[in-house]
Amino acid sequence: MRIYLSPPHMSGKELDYIKEAFESNYIAPLGPFVEKFEEAIKTYTKAPHALALCSATSGIHLALRVLGIKEGDKVAVSSFTFIASLSPILYQRATPVLIDADGSWQIDLEALEDALKKERIKAVIVTHLYGQSAPIKEIAALCQKYGAHLIEDAAESLGATYEQRHTGTYGIFGVYSFNGNKILTTSGGGMLVGQDEKLMHKAKKLSTQAKEEGYPWYEHKTYGYNYRLSNILAAIGVAQMEVLDDRIAKKRTIFSWYQEELKHCAMFMPEIAKSQGNRWLTTALFECDPLQIYEALKKEGIESRPLWKPMHLQPLCKDFAFYGKGVSEKLFAKGLCLPSGTQLSRQDIKEICQIVKEHCC
Ligand SMILES: Cc1ncc(COP(=O)(O)O)c(C=O)c1O
Repeated sequence: MRIYLSPPHMSGKELDYIKEAFESNYIAPLGPFVEKFEEAIKTYTKAPHALALCSATSGIHLALRVLGIKEGDKVAVSSFTFIASLSPILYQRATPVLIDADGSWQIDLEALEDALKKERIKAVIVTHLYGQSAPIKEIAALCQKYGAHLIEDAAESLGATYEQRHTGTYGIFGVYSFNGNKILTTSGGGMLVGQDEKLMHKAKKLSTQAKEEGYPWYEHKTYGYNYRLSNILAAIGVAQMEVLDDRIAKKRTIFSWYQEELKHCAMFMPEIAKSQGNRWLTTALFECDPLQIYEALKKEGIESRPLWKPMHLQPLCKDFAFYGKGVSEKLFAKGLCLPSGTQLSRQDIKEICQIVKEHCC
């Protein structure tokens, strides 16, 4: 591939910080950069607590585990999302209840309320899709009304806000991902943020094999996981945080370039009222079959990707309850994620759009 969908974009400081970590010999998992990275996320998002992890998926898993979600419990989850929003529900042997998207592409509030009314739902996992905020205040109010815990899958939406408050900070827990294609990358990594000090303390303990405190040996009353982020990767994260606002500004510029070029042949993902997204990926619906565009771009060495195939259409999920009107199926059939790397130029976008127009305009 000549042009990737959303490749890493280093600031230039990463190697200096990695060198510092090497010189201090904090090569073993934890170390000062882990704390610095957690502090940087807390300062940026105003989340009261943060825990650096090896992935966002592990963050969702820890959230479910400390909330006591177990076999037989039902957890509502966005259907129009990546599998990692849902798989931790299965790790806990709980049962997903899949909720459709609406015209905003985000979770359908009516379908969510319907599910909350009809099923005994213990927790709701909401994805902020493609870097755009879901109507999270309204979702939080529904969760409160029906006594369900809210976990925000903000893996894609670091820096996005709803009523000027960061996505990830409305729920009892939120997660951000730093895998290779995210707006900020540590090569692989994630952050769990949370509102409740005691629950976050539990999550921290579980993330390092559930060792009991106060013993010279390793004492275990329960089992945990090896989920923490290494000091070396956290050093990359600290350097990346310094340029996060620049990256968001560039992502939004790229979106505006696409809008300008494709205004007659694409319908872009909306940004809902009172929110500002990070436009992690520019995504749009087309009249033609998006796979035609996908193939044409691929021939030219340009990566694109169909929108998420909804979870309720996945063979894995055929036995799970689904609430909604099938909106996400239509989005999947017509939508494409366009290359959105922050090193792309105006000329690159013109070239990509020329190919799109030749096949679909
Ligand atoms: C919506 C969503 N949830 C969860 C994840 C999982 O993040 P990670 O790869 O850090 O586990 C991703 C991305 O990979 C994602 O896009």
